[in-house]
Amino acid sequence: MDTVLYDRADHKYVLLGFADSPDEKSVPSNQYMIVHNDTTVLMDPGGFTLFPVLVARVLKYTKMENIKAILLSHQDPDVNGGLSVWEKVTNAKIYISKLWVRFIPHYEIRNTKNIIGINDGDTEIIMNDDFKITLIPAHFLHSCGQFNYYDSVSKILFTGDIGASVLPCSGNSLFIEDFEEFLPCIEPFHTRYMSCNKALRKWIKYIESYDIDIIAPQHGYLIKGEVKDKFIRWLYDLKCGVDLI
Ligand SMILES: [Fe+2]
Ligand SMILES: [Fe+2]
Repeated sequence: MDTVLYDRADHKYVLLGFADSPDEKSVPSNQYMIVHNDTTVLMDPGGFTLFPVLVARVLKYTKMENIKAILLSHQDPDVNGGLSVWEKVTNAKIYISKLWVRFIPHYEIRNTKNIIGINDGDTEIIMNDDFKITLIPAHFLHSCGQFNYYDSVSKILFTGDIGASVLPCSGNSLFIEDFEEFLPCIEPFHTRYMSCNKALRKWIKYIESYDIDIIAPQHGYLIKGEVKDKFIRWLYDLKCGVDLI
């Protein structure tokens, strides 16, 4: 299922895949795309078997040659498993934390010159004169080098594994409806995979300065409105990872 989350004549934010591959049942994942005029950006394109599904959907909105960047939240196979195929059909620059640049060629990436390491202090990726992506550090949540990508036009924040849940859960369809009812769907993952409360609070401090309409995670349901506020408050107090070891 592809869904347009934000729609303006020159700017679209598309949920490209929503747990769509039958081959990734154990870790269903979401993929996202921003189309700004002739410049297209993919985020966390996911595993190998998703590729044919996603290409068909990409072509509904843009041309393959318009894909100028692939933004990766972190190093995991559910983020990068299909990267070698995307590399062959686009000439996109591949952005990831500099910590993972040396590891990404293990996904059979041939043109390593296209892999761009994001430094800890970097604040944005400038795609062109009127389109940029804001970088929000999300280190240790869970990856030691993880970035979130914020689009100031749609006000959508792609959060990688932060907010991840497994479908189906708690009667939701696309967005989480009742946060309290939903808690059992996210608590075990966040308690074990997120490194510590200190990292969560640091991330919350970063995102507080942005106007965010939708939190878009790499797995499971999307988060907005009152549920978004409750989710952030819950994370602020969550003890996790080494807090509990
Ligand atoms: Fe991950
Ligand atoms: Fe993930």
